[in-house]
Amino acid sequence: MREISTRGLKKLIDSKKKFILLDCRGIDYYLWEHLPGAMNIRWKYMEEKAIRMITDKKALIVTYCDGFTCMASLKGYKTLKKMGYKNVFEYSGGTADWNAQGFKTIKNPKYRIAENVYRFPNQVFYDEQVNSYLIEEDDFILLIDGPQQLTDEHEDFILYFDKPIKVFMSHGPTAGETELLQKKYRAKIFLHKKDEKNEWLTIKPDVLFEDGYEFSKNLRVIHTPGHTRGSSTLHDMKNKVMFTGDHIEGKDGKIYDFFKHRDGTEGDIKMRFENAKRLLEYDFEKILPFHYDIIPKKAKSILLEFIHKYS
Ligand SMILES: [Fe+2]
Repeated sequence: MREISTRGLKKLIDSKKKFILLDCRGIDYYLWEHLPGAMNIRWKYMEEKAIRMITDKKALIVTYCDGFTCMASLKGYKTLKKMGYKNVFEYSGGTADWNAQGFKTIKNPKYRIAENVYRFPNQVFYDEQVNSYLIEEDDFILLIDGPQQLTDEHEDFILYFDKPIKVFMSHGPTAGETELLQKKYRAKIFLHKKDEKNEWLTIKPDVLFEDGYEFSKNLRVIHTPGHTRGSSTLHDMKNKVMFTGDHIEGKDGKIYDFFKHRDGTEGDIKMRFENAKRLLEYDFEKILPFHYDIIPKKAKSILLEFIHKYS
């Protein structure tokens, strides 16, 4: 067993010597916070991934995880040794000790929105950054709109949870590469019945839902047509979040003003407005849309302001 101390690792990083710092935890932990320069391979996938990602068996490698109570760095270390890597060290202090010594980490809080809600990384839809979210429930994970491009990063993220996958499509045109999830992971795709004939729909949904459909006791569908006939909002009652798709979006701290910005993609704006009003009957603090910005707090009063402006 070869170990490296916090001081030793700090020295190694400062020396600018080439080495591989390997975060052995799940991708969600890695995205949340990792040591500077670290890459991520979860210990569970070490064998299949290291063989592709670390081709030099003599490379200097340091594994780490959360700290003394987490075994991921040790498991990663052992697998690498078994695979024939000659120059592996374990940093068992992990993020806990690194932080305790006051050293800097890289943080990405934007990926974690609530305790069991994540923003799915790096989504691009027609050259625009868009959002897809993941909710972890007890016996499944639910993606709010699927991946536009299913990359390794996304697959790691999904595999980390290791649960059956469901995909809530906020409306017809958001499928992207969701079909790959359907084929490769037997993900079940959910879409509102009225978007089954949407002209932009590129996927065959498994379940057609209607207003009031419940994914779990915390997650209920509200049918909010306007942008498309089937546009739906998902209400996460536990976290007080509205996943609004293209129905209501955030822009510069306000509601995206679909009255002002008509470019032909807004749909039936009168109907959209009426259904925006309806959301005020529910309890929520955040709006997480498909396009543009999230509204991370006070979303209900921001929506109320918008409604007042046009009522
Ligand atoms: Fe849309």
